Amino acid sequence: MKFFADTAEIADIKELAETGLLDGVTTNPSLIAKSGRDFMEVTKEICGLTHGPVSAEVVALDHEGMMREAEVLRKIADNVCIKVPLTFDGLKTCRKLTGDGTMVNVTLCFSANQALLAAKAGATFISPFVGRHDDNGFDGMQLISDIRLIYDNYAFATEILVASIRHPIHVLESAKIGADVATMPPAVIRSLVKHVLTDKGIEGFLADWAKTGQSI
Ligand code: G3P
Repeated sequence: MKFFADTAEIADIKELAETGLLDGVTTNPSLIAKSGRDFMEVTKEICGLTHGPVSAEVVALDHEGMMREAEVLRKIADNVCIKVPLTFDGLKTCRKLTGDGTMVNVTLCFSANQALLAAKAGATFISPFVGRHDDNGFDGMQLISDIRLIYDNYAFATEILVASIRHPIHVLESAKIGADVATMPPAVIRSLVKHVLTDKGIEGFLADWAKTGQSI
């Protein structure tokens, strides 16, 4: 399963890239606003920090506007992936862009039928928002499971990019279902490595090693 960082914070992306565990980055208008940076500049900088896809989201709601914005965004770098909302204008734009080889991430997906439409539109990635689904009393992981089944039924090439991840269990369940990508805040990526028994084990090993008086 690929790990994408869901952030526009350069320092976090740099740190994660250095671990060798970073396969891409996703941003959205809220994350760009939070960064306080110029959209084009920060996106270009992010594209230079990973060889993987970097999702940059259009804000137009009409097809012509989305195409116009996509033309601007895809000139930033070869690894820019255009993010469009799950609307008919977004799907129409997706079909057009993927038709000429541009990566497209169809975002704000909250139903399996929406994901089916995105796959039919040739989406590179579909972004079902599990956290927001859960927040509203729905079952986010059941959505991922349903999409996986449908995509496998028809051998759709669209990759399931689990988004709106809140904690390690979302990552674990996504991997068990067979999602292709998990995009998550840097803090969630960092939390995956933590286990109290690992920490205790290291402590115990070092305490016993100290008694040997040896060094390597
Ligand atoms: O960037 C897409 C998605 O991961 C954002 O989800 O719920 O954390 O705003 P959320």
